Amino acid sequence: MILTENLWFRYGEKDILKGVDFKAEKGVVTVLMGKNGAGKTTLLEHFNGLLRPYEGYVSVDGERLKYDRKSLLKVRRKVFYVFQNPDDQILSPTVWQEVAFGPKNLGIDGEELEKVVREALEAVGLNGYERRLCSTLSGGEKRRLTIASALAMNTEYVIMDEPSANVDGYGFDMIVELVRMLKKEGKGVVISTHDLDLAKAVGDKFYFMESGRIVWEGERLSWNMARKLGIRTFPCGRIVLSSFPEDGFDFVGVVGDGEKGKDVVEKAILRAIEGNKVLLICEDGCMQDVAKVVMRYPVEVEVRGGKDGKVHKN
Ligand SMILES: Nc1ncnc2c1ncn2[C@@H]1O[C@H](COP(=O)(O)OP(=O)(O)OP(=O)(O)O)[C@@H](O)[C@H]1O
Ligand SMILES: [Mg+2]
Repeated sequence: MILTENLWFRYGEKDILKGVDFKAEKGVVTVLMGKNGAGKTTLLEHFNGLLRPYEGYVSVDGERLKYDRKSLLKVRRKVFYVFQNPDDQILSPTVWQEVAFGPKNLGIDGEELEKVVREALEAVGLNGYERRLCSTLSGGEKRRLTIASALAMNTEYVIMDEPSANVDGYGFDMIVELVRMLKKEGKGVVISTHDLDLAKAVGDKFYFMESGRIVWEGERLSWNMARKLGIRTFPCGRIVLSSFPEDGFDFVGVVGDGEKGKDVVEKAILRAIEGNKVLLICEDGCMQDVAKVVMRYPVEVEVRGGKDGKVHKN
């Protein structure tokens, strides 16, 4: 586990991190969100010792980070940091050399090195680019190259600072797939992002940061919550969950238990995404389950008249 406790950091006289407690576990995708300048990158840069706190500490798998050269090399074999700006990370002339750099330092060579680099480049769709000069890659290709370097290092934790910035739809799908693969392999992934689609596609745990402090954490991030927290959102429709029939909707469905209920929920989500006002009448006991499902989609959700008869808005 990567853990920070009461982490404080300052540039000059200005406090940037103000007592941050953060936890990222293995086999879990932890997502860090927050406004520009909130301190996300500054926090992530503490996880492999790129920055050193002036108060508090970082620990990785129970060991507190130390900042001598040997300790830093050790932690960087466990925690790979993918920079927000690929140009800050890419140091080698060619694509092959860039991906080979890390594993080579770990003592991997010969055919094994060739294999590691080939597989990493294939995973990000950059096979065939081996001899290209890194400086000639496009922004999105550079980002994929930095992710290939992370894969080649095979570290237990991968920290990605804004991985979907600058990538197209294909690149986005690829990042989602790679993050899921890392998670399946039991790695701990931490992602900082403004991209709610990415957060919701891969996130298991969410932190929201404001002016150097964690102001919200949770395991479910609804579109409504995201909007409250100032995250850029594009909700397209609206679903009201209610125990009772009501007027004034473009589409009304009744959800009970079982497979048929699933069909109705799917239809309702599609209708809402198309911009319709949708009412789902939920039979006893399934309101919360339906709420969980619809909150994954870019729709506003309102729960009316649940068990306690109150109106809940997410
Ligand atoms: N080298 C530096 N010297 C002085 N101030 C810095 C330095 N690097 C960052 N800062 C400041 O620290 C604050 C936090 O920056 P940080 O990059 O961590 O924010 P962020 O949450 O990652 O923002 P973004 O969403 O824009 O990436 C900002 O006010 C920034 O101007
Ligand atoms: Mg940043």
